[in-house]
This record gives sequence, structure tokens and C-alpha cells, in this order.
Amino acid sequence: MISNEIIEEIKKKSDIVDVISSYIPLTKKGRNYFGLCPFHDDHSPSMSVSKEKGIYTCFVCGAKGNAISFVMDYENVSYIEAIKILADKLGIALNINTNYKKEDNHDNLYEIYDFSNKFYQNNLNTSSGHDAREYLKNRGITDDIIKEFKIGLALSYDKSLTKLLIQKGYKEQDLVDIGLTNKGDYGYQDLFINRIMFPLWNIEGKIIGYSGRIYRGEDTSKYINTKETIIFKKGLNLYNYHRARNFVRSSGNIIIMEGFMDVIRAYSVGVKNVVATMGTALTHEQASLVKKLSNNVILCFDGDKAGNKATFACGNELVNIGINPKVVRLEGNLDPDEYIIKYGVNKFQEKLSNCTSFLDFKLNYYKEGKNLNNNEDLTSYINEIILEVKNIDDEILRELTLKKISEEINISLDTLMAKLYSEINKDIEILKQNAYNSEEIAENNQYNEQFTYEYHPRKRENTFKKKTNVTNKYKKAEREILYYMLTQKEMTYKYEKTLPNFPTKICRFLVHEIMYFVKKYDTISISDFLNYLDSKTELVNLVGEILNSNDNEKYSIEEIPDCINVLKEYNLKNEINRLNELLKNEKDLERQVELANKIMSLKMGVEDDERNQNIR
Ligand code: UTP
Ligand code: MN
Repeated sequence: MISNEIIEEIKKKSDIVDVISSYIPLTKKGRNYFGLCPFHDDHSPSMSVSKEKGIYTCFVCGAKGNAISFVMDYENVSYIEAIKILADKLGIALNINTNYKKEDNHDNLYEIYDFSNKFYQNNLNTSSGHDAREYLKNRGITDDIIKEFKIGLALSYDKSLTKLLIQKGYKEQDLVDIGLTNKGDYGYQDLFINRIMFPLWNIEGKIIGYSGRIYRGEDTSKYINTKETIIFKKGLNLYNYHRARNFVRSSGNIIIMEGFMDVIRAYSVGVKNVVATMGTALTHEQASLVKKLSNNVILCFDGDKAGNKATFACGNELVNIGINPKVVRLEGNLDPDEYIIKYGVNKFQEKLSNCTSFLDFKLNYYKEGKNLNNNEDLTSYINEIILEVKNIDDEILRELTLKKISEEINISLDTLMAKLYSEINKDIEILKQNAYNSEEIAENNQYNEQFTYEYHPRKRENTFKKKTNVTNKYKKAEREILYYMLTQKEMTYKYEKTLPNFPTKICRFLVHEIMYFVKKYDTISISDFLNYLDSKTELVNLVGEILNSNDNEKYSIEEIPDCINVLKEYNLKNEINRLNELLKNEKDLERQVELANKIMSLKMGVEDDERNQNIR
């Protein structure tokens, strides 16, 4: 844990002009400094930096913040990492005390991997490496690429890595656990034999596994990969991420490929903003990693049918986290590696700059394997298309797309429009049902919540906006507690264990965020907390609302226990309502009695609470 005082010291000492000009050149004009904004494709200096205020603002893209947020955004790092970077720049030693738990304490495992990598790299240069070297040469993998990507070679059992590691004092079982060694009939043996070894890195650039490729035309699986281990989590990493991140800023986008050989090829011809999924579906975490670097994503998968399917799946995963990717399809079933070798990098670059939208890709994708002259196929095509069109936010694009399809399949635009609106209406009905069924709404009639309807295709869950009556006692209690949690870190420590469930969802989220933040950083400095909340706009707004409300003057910290009781009472009443519902539908007599008793005792609790409140 970095102490609050040190964080304050770092903030005080960090001169924003010094910090930012260590990344980008700034020129002084009048009171402020100006530079090219690194957060968008800037051509004339639109970022202004104020030394006095300690903030930067970009007039074009709206990026703004302080020294810490600049480092966070520029380096793509967390709050704490940014603090460390600034401390480093200032030469301040961070007193990391004993209860600071290092999240990742696997240094010895990384050491083993580093060692194994040197071993494999060395093998490639021995006489036994002749065939492998020839193989790589034939594939156009130069010595420079071999060096950059630390490619190596695993030989046969008798030239064993395992033996060497054991001699160095590592435990057999550890070697098995991290995926370098097998326990076989003849004892411990290398897991990889006779394979060209491609190291796999984690996002920080540490080697955590291998993909081993056959190179003599053996009839076994083409690649063998390290299994999931304590340090190798396939779904949390992307091949080449640690290198690509440095190039995404300048290129303005990131390219995702399937195979690491494709990435190696693209990288070596100068297309460096590229990562690979390594042939598996893109996980939500991987999508988030990509999003951390850029929202401009190009999917460039293999040109074959599998690549087409993967593009569809991966694209949808990206859409789920708010990215609208672009797509490149390579003709002739080629993968990017083969394409670059066959047509050269210029033609490949051309493909990249002429990519299609994910929507257009999908419209084609649905056509595949269908005969649109066949009525059944045509109907299922139209159904699929309408669902896609329904998700288009932009009304004009929606109509244009339908128009294009209508011409293509020779069905009138009116018919398609009618179909679209019937789908939209179905959604609305479902939403209404859900809204009225939802527990929160049915039971919170004290809240006097009203609904307004808005059609918002991508955020369908938000379609019903709740307008909550502000002047009720539950809401006041929530806000008062939150106000003190936001202004005194002791509040969180004191009531952490006893806080009841908060009636409104957004307040519940805020409580969790405050608790997390206070426990992690031992402070509730508002600017840092807002920084931390970052893109969670709803929460940021709520914090602002609570801190700026006129009600604050009426609050008093002595009221907190009462506020807590008010919320407890709310929860109790809710529970009673729930049990009453159950009771209504319960057929079994014994269960009925049981429920009735429970309700009785809860009701007594409520009455007790109310009596207590009146006494006070
Ligand atoms: P590909 O079959 O497209 O490999 O699989 P590639 O990139 O073209 O490789 P080369 O050119 O034949 O050498 C894509 C990815 O799927 C994984 C690998 O990570 C590969 O990069 N894969 C493929 C395996 O894990 N095992 C396999 O047997 C095949
Ligand atoms: Mn290939």
C-alpha cells in the first residue's frame, strides 16, 4: 500500500508541464503550453496544458485531466501504476509496507521460462538445429525475426531441458506444473520435443508459455501449446500484445489476427500494431485488452471458411463491449502470412485501408450457404438481416441498409420496414413486461418510480428510464450515508460490515466502488476517486450530485445510525412483501404456516424499529 501522504506529495511535486513534456513536445504560448494531443489523430496542437491549474485539456477530442490521469491514459496503466511512474520520475522512494501484497509473485517461474527460452534459442544454432533453420529460412523467417521473436528449438529427450533445470535445483513437480515437463513411464521428460519453439508472452512481456511447431512433416498435431498454468492463462493474453501496444498510438488502430505466424509476418514487414488470438474464440477479457489500446479494431482473419466464422464470432464479442470493428477478408483462402508473401506488403496495406464495416461483413455472412431463390432460405435470410438492422443506432444508416437489401433481394422497402417495426414492437412489449415484472419496480412503489420510454437499440436494457421521486426518506438516507462515505474514509471502515442493502441499484454500485477504493488506497480523495471511476459516467454524475447537493447542509454525522435503520426497515419491508407473494402462491399448508410465522416476526421487527425511531 502506498501511503496517502506519499500520493499527496507526488501530486504536489508533479509539475504537469514536466510530466507531459516528457512524453510529447510542448510550446509555451501566453500562460499555457500547447502540444499535439496524443489521444486523437491530431495535426495542429490542440492540447493545452496549464501549469498553474495542473491540468490539460484537448479542445478537439475533449481529453482532460491531471498529471496522473495523463500518465494513466498515455501509458495505459492503472492509477497505482501511474503513481509509481510519477514517483520514479520525481525520484521519490515508495514506502511499500508489509501489508502490501504483491499480486503476482511468480518471479521464479518467469526465471525458469527465461532460462528455457535461452536453452531453446541456443539449440537452434547447434548442428542439430540444421533442419529447423532450413525450415525457417524456407518460410522467409530471417535471423532478425528469429531474434526479435526469440524463436528456438526443442530437440530430443536425451538433450533435455528438464535434466538441466533439475540440475539447477528446480523441483520436478514445478516443471510439470508450469508446462515444460511431462511425467512419463521413464520418469520426468521434456514436454516439447523436436519442435520449433515460439515463446508466448503475457501482456507485460514476460514469457509464460510456448507454442511448438513440427518442422519435418511429421504426422502429429501442427502445434502443441502450453496448457493453462498458474502463469499462462490463454484467455487473458493476446500474442504480441506487449509489443503492439507501442505501435497502436501512432497507427491509430489495432489489428487482430488468428495465428501468431501471421502476426510475426505482419510485424516483420512493418505492420506492427497487430495481435493474435491464437486460433481460439476471443474472450471478453481479451476484447477488453484490445479496447484498452484502441476502439479502432480491424479483424484480419484467415481467408478460409473457418476464418469467416471466427470473424463473425470475434466481431460480436467486440460489439458486446462497445467496439464496432472493421473487417478485412483475404481472397483465395489465404492467411495474412501467405497473403503478404504472395502479394507483398503494399497490397496488404491496401487491403487494410479498404476494410469493410462489420455490418457489411455480416450482411454477406448471412448470405453464405443460402440460395436466395429458395423461399425458405430467403425468409431466414430476411429474418437474420432484420435483427441486424434493428441494432443499428443511426436511423439513416438503418434505412439505407434496408434499401440496399431491398434492391438486392427484390423485396419492397415497405415490406422490409414493416417487418423491422414489427420486430421493434415485439422488443417493446418484452421490455414493458420485464419492467413491470422486475422486483425492484414492483416492490419499490414507495419510490414512486415512473417510466419513460426511449428506443435505444444498443442499450435495450436502459430503454425504460426510471424517474425516481427524490423526496422520500429512503433516498435521503442513502444519500446521507454516501455523502459521509465520500468525505470521510473512516465512515467506510466503521460501517463496512453493517451497511444494509441500498434500495437503488446505482447507489449500491457506488457503495461497492467506494469500499473497494478506500480499502485499496486508504483514502477517499475525490479527484482520485473520480479518476478511478473514469468512464463509469453514471457513477461520476452521482458523486457530483451528492457532493453538490444543497441537502448536505442539513446532514449530520450523528444521523448515520438512523439512516442505516431506515434502510434496514426498507429491506425488511421488501422481504415481507416477497414472503407475502410466496404465501399467496403457496399450496402446502405446512409451508403456509411457516411463511406466515416468518412474516409475523419480521413485522414485529419493523414495528420495533419504528417505535425506536419515535422514541429518539
Ligand atoms: P493456423 O492453422 O491458421 O496456423 O492456426 P498458422 O498461423 O497458419 O500457422 P502455420 O502458418 O501453419 O505455421 C492459427 C492458430 O491456431 C493455433 C495456433 O496458435 C495458430 O497460431 N493452432 C493451430 C494450434 O494451437 N494448434 C494447431 O494444431 C493448429
Ligand atoms: Mn499460415
